[in-house]
Amino acid sequence: MNSPPQDTATRSIDAGDIEFGDGLEILLSTVFQAAEPGQTIDVATSSRSTALELPGWARSTGHSAERDWKETNGNGQRFVVRVRRGEAAPVLAPDLPSRGEPMPLRLGSQFHTTDLVNAAPERLPGSPDPGYGLIPLGAVPESGGPQYSWRLNHHDDLWAEEITDLTERASSAQWDATVDVPWNEALGLPDDVERAVAQVMTFIASNEYVALYVPSKFLPQVNSAFVDILMWLASHIHDEARHVEVFTKRALIGGQRGYALASTQMSLHSLLEEDDFSSASLLLNVLGEGTFIDLLGFISRNAPDAATAACARLAHRDEQRHVHFGISHVRRSQKLDPDSTPQLIGAVEARAAKLATLTGLSPVLLESLTILAAGSTRSASLRRGAAGVKELTRLMEVNRIRRLRAAGFDAETAHHLSELHTPNLM
Ligand SMILES: [Fe+2]
Ligand SMILES: [Fe+2]
Repeated sequence: MNSPPQDTATRSIDAGDIEFGDGLEILLSTVFQAAEPGQTIDVATSSRSTALELPGWARSTGHSAERDWKETNGNGQRFVVRVRRGEAAPVLAPDLPSRGEPMPLRLGSQFHTTDLVNAAPERLPGSPDPGYGLIPLGAVPESGGPQYSWRLNHHDDLWAEEITDLTERASSAQWDATVDVPWNEALGLPDDVERAVAQVMTFIASNEYVALYVPSKFLPQVNSAFVDILMWLASHIHDEARHVEVFTKRALIGGQRGYALASTQMSLHSLLEEDDFSSASLLLNVLGEGTFIDLLGFISRNAPDAATAACARLAHRDEQRHVHFGISHVRRSQKLDPDSTPQLIGAVEARAAKLATLTGLSPVLLESLTILAAGSTRSASLRRGAAGVKELTRLMEVNRIRRLRAAGFDAETAHHLSELHTPNLM
């Protein structure tokens, strides 16, 4: 060993008696990563063998040991190795930016999703590279990762004003289809009423499948840079999976079965064929789920038992978020790009042309809805049930037009699109 140098290093650390294999590598790595390339660091150790191993460690990690010496201080003898930090970095990426401000909290402890997206160090890119990796918001990507090939790469084509707020509301409004419905209340209905309820529930469950599949189909196409869109779609998918669950449970709980009607299958199949995100949003969120809001409201008010009413009420709450997204997204799309209006209208017309043979709601379903609302097959009740269903049909049309107007269509177009909407409701 040599004598101590006259000059001083940029910084020094005392590693004490910690050795390689016991955590010394981690200590050194932390210190050297924080240093600038070219800086010198004096590493002191009480272990002679560690001092002998330090030049080898320096070489293998891209640094260089420049000199070494032995010195004596109050704690006795120690060995010092001066190492110059090399250019090599452990990660093939630019240095991490220096630590910034912490993220904002609300009410002292709440970290809102809206604040995550708005306050992130890098705002969401509008049109990221279609090859963007699975890189969390704000992360510094290392080069050399695989190239992805996302199909949906423009944030504006997917976004809606309130999207993070809606996602937040979805998280806080979760419910449990096993315990949040008073299932015992569903038991004991007369056969004809149970048959009607099972049929309506089977119909709704079929429709919930398409509401599950449409956002599921788009999610893996969305550029991974759009964490807000991904979180929204995932919440929508989660909601719909629970709707499939709750309506299937209600359909079967009384021992009765219902038909999965071909007219329903035909209508849903045509919805699943739509490949444009905004057109699918108009067809599913605005027209289909919008119409379902009225149906679910009707069932929650007129169900013959508290379990059926609860299923409809819980799903209704979720559907309001889905419809809210659709109206907001379609309105914004038309505002940003007036050329999207004819494309949206064309999507509704094209689907209607495919469903030209469907001329009205299935008679099986009309009859079941009437008995469900009547609560019995006595003639006075049936008259009341039939009047209720007629009023529901009127209300669905009025509200559909209102929603289309809110989504940015003029009055004439709103009437036109409402008339073209599938008689299957979804
Ligand atoms: Fe649903
Ligand atoms: Fe929905």
